[in-house]
Amino acid sequence: MKTMKVTLQVNNEKVDLQVRPYETLLETLRDRLDLTGAKEACGMGACGACTVVVNGVPLRSCLVLTPEVDGAEITTVEGLKKDKKLHPLQEAFMEKGAVQCGFCTSGMLMTAKALLDRNKKPTKKEIVRTISSNICRCTGYKKIIEAVEAAAKR
Ligand code: FES
Ligand code: FES
Repeated sequence: MKTMKVTLQVNNEKVDLQVRPYETLLETLRDRLDLTGAKEACGMGACGACTVVVNGVPLRSCLVLTPEVDGAEITTVEGLKKDKKLHPLQEAFMEKGAVQCGFCTSGMLMTAKALLDRNKKPTKKEIVRTISSNICRCTGYKKIIEAVEAAAKR
């Protein structure tokens, strides 16, 4: 089967890969790089469980073909921790009880991270609008919103 060479910068590490032309970024991350934090739920761009940050923008990795992001900088939930310390968002999610089954959590965290990276002090309205692109079936969103607000204060 024909494959293509791509180079990605994933969580600050350069990786060279041979991928199928139609391989999704979600498949590459999960199946080749063993980064299973991004989840596949709907597989059609509706839920946000597969969200990762690509060149600073939160994208649904189930809708992105890996060859399309050749050369990109990608951050997954596995790359949030720094020097063995959790990211403020991860700490706030735990403290506020914003995680129940956890299936949506990595996508929520990556969507929220991209927001805080571009706007350190978002309003509640901006937080609500941003995370409304991600579906959570458990928490009712209140605790997730509180967690993002708390992380923005750190
Ligand atoms: S699995 Fe990608 S948006 Fe739902
Ligand atoms: S914590 Fe279960 S889907 Fe969000």
